[in-house]
Amino acid sequence: MFYSAIRKILFQFDPEKIHELTIASLKKTGSTPFNNLYRQNISDKPVEVMGIKFPNPVGLAAGLDKNGECIRAFDAMGFGFVEVGTVTPRPQPGNEKPRIFRLESANAIINRMGFNNKGVDYLVNQVQKANFSGVLGINIGKNKDTPEENAKDDYLHCMRKVYNFSSYITINISSPNTPGLRSLQYGEALNELLLALKKEQQVLEKQYNKYVPLAVKIAPDLTPEEVKDIAQCLVNNNIDAVIATNTTLSREGVVGLEHGDEQGGLSGQPVKDKSTAVIKLLATELAGKLPIIGVGGIASSEDAKEKLAAGAALVQVYTGFIYQGPLLIKSIINAL
Ligand SMILES: Cc1cc2nc3c(=O)[nH]c(=O)nc-3n(C[C@H](O)[C@H](O)[C@H](O)COP(=O)(O)O)c2cc1C
Repeated sequence: MFYSAIRKILFQFDPEKIHELTIASLKKTGSTPFNNLYRQNISDKPVEVMGIKFPNPVGLAAGLDKNGECIRAFDAMGFGFVEVGTVTPRPQPGNEKPRIFRLESANAIINRMGFNNKGVDYLVNQVQKANFSGVLGINIGKNKDTPEENAKDDYLHCMRKVYNFSSYITINISSPNTPGLRSLQYGEALNELLLALKKEQQVLEKQYNKYVPLAVKIAPDLTPEEVKDIAQCLVNNNIDAVIATNTTLSREGVVGLEHGDEQGGLSGQPVKDKSTAVIKLLATELAGKLPIIGVGGIASSEDAKEKLAAGAALVQVYTGFIYQGPLLIKSIINAL
């Protein structure tokens, strides 16, 4: 009731303006008694995945808190884990505005943000300030102006910076808004990237005397053959988890709607079945060798259960959370 009333007002305004305002207020209040405004008491539904103990299996997906400024606020809402980023080595402005569009009748969003973020050093500083003892994923990417052939160096740079502050690190190779990024999902390019990251993980493990798992986030727009090849490559390289999926380039479900033909990645209800299909296929191919984190179009406890039944060990929400607010977390967890 409460959030739906707020949403009515919020949705009158430009999506990015509201986003900035929300982030600013959550950043201000997250570690103060004002966090009681959105704090939820959520019963524990513990799960262990990647060797990490999660208080519950519902996480915040990457992209909402790109700079790690609101970790304590999202924790207060009851998320079992928070994934911040995508962060790049250097700060960058992202694409021209407007770059985020609500498609209300489809419970969807199209975005072409383009990894706007304040850079990895700023994010690490925020994470340190948050002094958070819960489960924190840090999602890393490449700068737009880093040539594709040097992408690996950007991931390695970010990985070294965030390693000691993350519960797990997500390698994002599936955003549709950074030219060339998704080509890292295929063949030798993927293998080479994962080899380099695993090698660095060993070095960092020794240096910090702790093992931080690596998760790879993939797109929903892959052929079954491509999903199978990726699964094999993840297993061969001993990757710790896979996150499926990012936003889709497909416009199925939004053709003819206002903003339906905007460029960028489509999220929310229209990506739900695509993402579940990828999870199912991954589950078959991986046969339990590494866990799957399911994300894409979760807007109810039924949707979350569908992802878990398809083979996910954890789930994440973004668009459903924008449309429904913190109660979504509670209703999913209560139904598990
Ligand atoms: C506005 C917006 C920005 C996003 N930014 C990122 C990002 O920076 N990194 C990333 O890995 N995923 C990003 N995502 C993708 C989400 O994390 C998620 O994978 C996708 O939206 C599907 O889930 P959903 O249907 O619950 O939104 C973004 C999504 C949206 C809507």
